[in-house]
Amino acid sequence: MRIDVFTQVPHAFGWLTEQQPLAGVLGGALELRLFNYRDTTPLRAGQVDDDPYGGGPGMVLRVDVVDAALEAAYGTERPGRIVALTPSGRPLEQGLVEELAREPQLALLSSRFEGFDERIVDELSTDAISIGPYVLSGGELPAMVVLDAIARRLPGALTEGSGEHESFSAALDGGVEYPHYTRPAEYRGWDVPPVLLSGDHGAIDQWRREQSRVRSIR
Ligand SMILES: C[S@@+](CC[C@H](N)C(=O)[O-])C[C@H]1O[C@@H](n2cnc3c(N)ncnc32)[C@H](O)[C@@H]1O
Repeated sequence: MRIDVFTQVPHAFGWLTEQQPLAGVLGGALELRLFNYRDTTPLRAGQVDDDPYGGGPGMVLRVDVVDAALEAAYGTERPGRIVALTPSGRPLEQGLVEELAREPQLALLSSRFEGFDERIVDELSTDAISIGPYVLSGGELPAMVVLDAIARRLPGALTEGSGEHESFSAALDGGVEYPHYTRPAEYRGWDVPPVLLSGDHGAIDQWRREQSRVRSIR
């Protein structure tokens, strides 16, 4: 799979690309390219945004700038999914992550300040996605959230089986995961549930399933 991120801050992605599981799939199951709108802007002095029509505070990312960036990256062969990251988009959830992870190619558009000229969302993008009902200062963290969530689903990202019983997986009927414990078995009077120490794998499976079910309906 190839993911292209369009941003004004490409260096922000340096940390993420060094972390697992992303680092492990880069150059294999995942090719990641970072594009800076400033490198291809048709405007002078690296300008990428402008004052909002109708007045008001903040700067708006220009449609001609984003179109030029897409043109430079793809010519006329644009990817099937071009995602604008915006608080007003479709909420990101695991089903959407799985859907995106099946795409051969994906473009993520991030903005800053007041956001996108709406024609970027309406005309240049195929999807608008929000990572939650709150406002961040830029689309870089949302792009990293999407990247990391997709990377986990790619072949070779996780050790065998560890992605199968995660929260929101089919194995847990879409529910959240059961709780985990490790040594010590007792700490300050806080005990690990005895069933987990019993060695009875049938009982452990049943307990985990029940815990997942109870936590999922809270
Ligand atoms: C300060 S925000 C713009 C907020 C916009 N004026 C609004 O009220 O919806 C700047 C950029 O950060 C990104 N962003 C902020 N919060 C986001 C979220 N919850 N999901 C996805 N992208 C977000 C988007 O790319 C957005 O254009």
